[in-house]
Amino acid sequence: MKNVCVMGLGYIGLPTASVLASNGFQVLGVDVSPRVVDTVNSGNIHIEEPGLRTVVAAAIGSGHLRAALKPEKSDVFIIAVPTPLTKDKRADMSYVVQATEQIVPFLSPGCLVILESTSPPGTCRDLLKPILEKSGLNVGSDIYLAHCPERVLPGRILTELIQNDRVIGGIEPISAQRAKDVYATFVEGEIFLTDATTAEMVKIIENTFRDVNIAFANETALLCEKLGINFAEVARLANRHPRVNIHRAGPGVGGHCISVDPWFLVEKFPDDAKIIHLARQRNDAMPHHVTNTLNDMLEGIQDPKVAILGVAFKGNVDDIRESPALEIIHQLNQQGVRVAAHDPYVKHAPIELVTLDACFADADCVVLVTDHSDYLYLNPQQVGRTMRRRNLFDTRAFLPHDQWRNAGFRVRVLGAGEPR
Ligand SMILES: NC(=O)c1ccc[n+]([C@@H]2O[C@H](COP(=O)([O-])OP(=O)(O)OC[C@H]3O[C@@H](n4cnc5c(N)ncnc54)[C@H](O)[C@@H]3O)[C@@H](O)[C@H]2O)c1
Repeated sequence: MKNVCVMGLGYIGLPTASVLASNGFQVLGVDVSPRVVDTVNSGNIHIEEPGLRTVVAAAIGSGHLRAALKPEKSDVFIIAVPTPLTKDKRADMSYVVQATEQIVPFLSPGCLVILESTSPPGTCRDLLKPILEKSGLNVGSDIYLAHCPERVLPGRILTELIQNDRVIGGIEPISAQRAKDVYATFVEGEIFLTDATTAEMVKIIENTFRDVNIAFANETALLCEKLGINFAEVARLANRHPRVNIHRAGPGVGGHCISVDPWFLVEKFPDDAKIIHLARQRNDAMPHHVTNTLNDMLEGIQDPKVAILGVAFKGNVDDIRESPALEIIHQLNQQGVRVAAHDPYVKHAPIELVTLDACFADADCVVLVTDHSDYLYLNPQQVGRTMRRRNLFDTRAFLPHDQWRNAGFRVRVLGAGEPR
């Protein structure tokens, strides 16, 4: 198997294509976006990821990687296209279906198709197999089909692509083995073989596990607020138990994985995935809890202004997908509260971002939404100088609160109730 065609040149597809190209494969990267295709063919990148520019430039320079708008005949096809949610919280499989249909005319006996996109359990068996068999070839005997979910962390993709353990699930054991032969050329972690539906479920429950645990932390934080005690202290002490690991509470769960994937199970099993559904609802309700607390803090203030620190979904990244900050800002806008938002990482956002000075000027409350390390170095005295009132609401229990209190700020922390 020498030729690989990678469908989708995003955060997953482009690193995968360039790593395969660096490992001796002849790789064709396919994307529906002409901008992406042109950028990659010129040896450049359209996404920010440490080290990726160098690897792509080398792969293009060596002639082992090229990009195109349409697939061609190949030994291996890897599908790495988006699997987002629809507005009504269902898996939008249209990109996967389209990419799979596009490769059908280029299949021949012996081909291997690998689905990398995170997909609801049963996707390879019930959705991809029938589409691929429109080629007249039988999946499992003429051609092979496997799911190999991706576990990389943005910011460390090139390292984790190579070092992480991988789970590969085949429609038949031979499909899993064929896929293993491909990944074993560059993966240094262990590779575990299973069936396709198990591999799909493994990926989904990894993210669901985290979502449910965060929901538990968030719920506990709300209970602590009502009790007039501090969740951070409760979690710190509970975590001294050798078998307890309580997660951090916060303003909600963002990103395109943890806040998305659990819905695939809720959609498929509406009557049974009860805890998973409740956890999603709990986490999705956190922005509302933030705005409720703010309403409390701003009560009686005429024409209040809120200074939002951070709009990315987590600290030290530029990703705003599903970010709770956007929902918090939306809710405040709806209530007629003036909002100024700052983020040191985010370059493109659907809302206006301002400088720190403009953010604090005339504000009645600072709200820390994203735990970017930069915010640890703020000088509260300086911050307070141009503010109308000195209020801080820390939704991540992140800032040095004593410093802010010493600078005259009234400090509220998500999960910390007012002592009785
Ligand atoms: N980014 C991550 O950290 C990460 C981690 C684990 C799993 N995943 C999963 O990997 C999959 C891909 O995610 P991503 O972050 O790379 O997405 P992305 O949006 O960065 O990239 C997807 C690319 O696919 C292209 N595309 C769409 N339809 C196409 C088609 N029919 N043919 C060819 N190209 C097409 C888009 O133009 C885009 O460039 C998703 O299922 C995601 O959930 C992502």
